[in-house]
This record gives sequence, structure tokens and C-alpha cells, in this order.
Amino acid sequence: MKRRRIAVLGSTGSIGAQTLEVARAHPERLEIVALAANRGAPTLIAQAREFGVHTVALADPDAAAQARAELPDAQVLEGASGLSELALATGADLVVGAVSGIAGLASVLTALQHGIDVALANKEPLVAAGEIVTQAAGRSGATIIPLDSEISAIFQCLRGEDRRTIEKVLLTASGGPFARLNKQELAQVTPEQALSHPTWKMGPKVTIDSATLANKGFEVFELKWLFGLRFEQIEVVVHHQSIIHSMVQFHDGSMIAQMGAPDMRVPIQYGLLYPERVANDLPCVVLAEIGQLTFERPDVGRFPSLRLAFEAGKSGRSYPAVLNGANESAVQLFLEGRIGFTDIPALAERALEAHEPFDISSIDDVAQADTWARRFVAHEVRDGSVR
Ligand SMILES: NC(=O)c1ccc[n+]([C@@H]2O[C@H](COP(=O)([O-])OP(=O)(O)OC[C@H]3O[C@@H](n4cnc5c(N)ncnc54)[C@H](OP(=O)(O)O)[C@@H]3O)[C@@H](O)[C@H]2O)c1
Repeated sequence: MKRRRIAVLGSTGSIGAQTLEVARAHPERLEIVALAANRGAPTLIAQAREFGVHTVALADPDAAAQARAELPDAQVLEGASGLSELALATGADLVVGAVSGIAGLASVLTALQHGIDVALANKEPLVAAGEIVTQAAGRSGATIIPLDSEISAIFQCLRGEDRRTIEKVLLTASGGPFARLNKQELAQVTPEQALSHPTWKMGPKVTIDSATLANKGFEVFELKWLFGLRFEQIEVVVHHQSIIHSMVQFHDGSMIAQMGAPDMRVPIQYGLLYPERVANDLPCVVLAEIGQLTFERPDVGRFPSLRLAFEAGKSGRSYPAVLNGANESAVQLFLEGRIGFTDIPALAERALEAHEPFDISSIDDVAQADTWARRFVAHEVRDGSVR
């Protein structure tokens, strides 16, 4: 059997490392042909040696120089454009989009424009530029296979189903580590507390987004764009056990749920080997040990990021890109200890209120909205406090 040739963008991160773990477990089916990251040269160099990869990209020039010195036989691409060139340079069959943030947009878009299938974890491109990304795939015939566990769940529930029969999608949320805190307690949350997610081990940005529920809001965009849904068809349900990864309700009242252990390697494997289901050694859920599965409505009063996602999504135009940019810079400021936890959604909301919207028809338009939002947030946060 021909092995699937894979380029991993964001190989040094949480999803990237788990992608390589899956590849390690299925060497007869998966071949890693390219790796890319930002500045994590030592990790990327070790990965390139282990998998015999001869084409790599590092966005940071110093990290690229280090890779050139230590991998003398490798082609080392550099800068943001290096990531975009990478997939094309190696003739990969599948690009894994696992960069964190909007920084992953250009490379994912380039792959799709050239007809290369993308296994996508990186959700921010679908938030800020969902129409551009999905139209590029539509034009070239490339497939976007979701790796995010909830979105993979819906992808799996819809296999063999007529999408016109979808009544709604029930997107499950763990509720995050602060599901039980009141508004005053949420305002006191520190970066250290927010970085310890109860269920998933993830990169810092998505961990904070999970705690504010911005991440759940971003998944709403993934569902909208990947499955052609209306925002009104997407309902978020808090499900603390994270066993049901999401569900579809059909016109006839039937619901199909996808379940499993909360382990990202399962949807990653599904995405890399799609459409095959292949046996593995990953943990399974024993339902009798779990006992109960519970469901609650989310509290958008305490977690306004979720409300903002629906509002920005329904308003469309440049609002989603502004939401994404404002959130991304507010999360960074929170991680640096410069703003409080509840300032993250507050700044995103102020940015949306102040923004004069415009149409998004190109990646340059997305960049313009993103830059505007980041400048707005920087202006609001001066001298260590939010104005
Ligand atoms: N982790 C999860 O369980 C999970 C689940 C579902 C979806 N996702 C989504 O998957 C994406 C990645 O999440 P993660 O948790 O894996 O993040 P992460 O651990 O922070 O890793 C991010 C990766 O992106 C690279 N990167 C960051 N900025 C870059 C840039 N400007 N140019 C090139 N590479 C850059 C990093 O390289 P360096 O190491 O060199 O900085 C690293 O390899 C996010 O969009 C997230 O929302 C994650």
C-alpha cells in the first residue's frame, strides 16, 4: 500500500507532537515528509532526524539558521512564506494545519489552493477567513478534514448522511476549568490557573480560549464553514465528562453522537488515515465506569466569549476577523500578566463595538481587520491597565 505523505505545520506544538505520535504508530501507512514551526528549532531538528525528513521550515530566521547548521543535508525554508512553500516543495498528499492562531492562515490556504488536502486543527483561519478558506478548497477540489475532536465528531456523524436532513448540531463543551466560578472569582483567575485545563493538554493560547469559552465560539465557526450550517442550527451544550464529542439532530428527531475517550490522538488518527478506521492501542472509554453523562446550557453571562462568537458570526463581514484578532492579542496580554481574565472578552466586545465593518474578499482584507483589532486592543491597554 502506498504510504500517505504528510507535511506537519506546527510540528513542535501539542497537536504537532500528537500527529507524529500517530505517524510513529502507523509507519506502514504514514510518511512524514516535511515539518514546520516558528522558533522551536531544537525540537524540530530532533523530529527531522527521527523521521528522516529533508525539508523543513522555521518562521523565525535565527531558528532557521540553527536548523541549517544542524541539518546540513536538509532544505530549510524560512519566514512566513517558508511555511506556505513547504507543502508544495515536498509534494505532500496531506498537510496537517497545526499552527496556533491566524499565523496558520496563509500556509493552509496555499495548500488548499493547490489542491492538497488539509487535516485541520488550526481553527483561527476558519474564524477569520472561513469563506475564503472553504471556497479555495471548493475550487481546487481539496478536502478539509477536521482534527478538532468536536468537529471530527460531526464529520463522523455525517458520514453517509444527507446534510440537507440536519436539524441542528449539538456542540459539546467541557465547560473549562472555571465552569463553577462566579463573575468576581473569574476576574481573579491567574494565567497559571487558567493554563491547567482539566481534560486536555494543549498549547497556551487554546488553553486560555477553552477557559473563556472563546474556543467553543471558534468551533461554531468551524461547524458553520465546514458543514455549510447556519449559526441558528448550532447549539452549545456543556458536557463535563467530555465523552460525547458532539452530536447531530436530524429532521426525523434522531440524534447521532460520536463518543470516545478524551484523547486527541483518536481524531488525529481518524483525520490522517481517513476514510479508513485502523486498530490502535489508544485508551477506550468504559461507560459503566463513567456512570453518568450530564448536559447543561452554557452560561453566556459569565462566559460572554461564546455570545460574542455568535454575534460576530451572524454579523459577518470583517467582524469575525476582528473578534479573532482582538481575542488573540488579549490572550497574549493575559498570559503576560498585563490584563485580567475577564478583560479578554471585555476587550473583544469593545473592539467589535468600535469596529467599522467592511467586506472580506481576500487574505489582505483579513490582515487589515486583524491589524485593526490588535491596534485597538493595544490602545485600550496602556500602562498595565485596561482603559
Ligand atoms: N491542543 C489541542 O488539543 C487542540 C485541539 C483542537 C484544536 N487545536 C488547535 O490547533 C492549533 C494548534 O494548537 P496547539 O495546542 O498544538 O498549539 P501549540 O502547542 O501552542 O503549538 C503551536 C505550533 O504552532 C507553531 N507556530 C506558532 N506560531 C507560528 C508562526 N508564526 N509560524 C509558524 N509556526 C508557528 C509553534 O511553533 P514553535 O514551537 O516554534 O513556537 C508550534 O509548533 C490551534 O489553532 C488550536 O486551537 C488544538
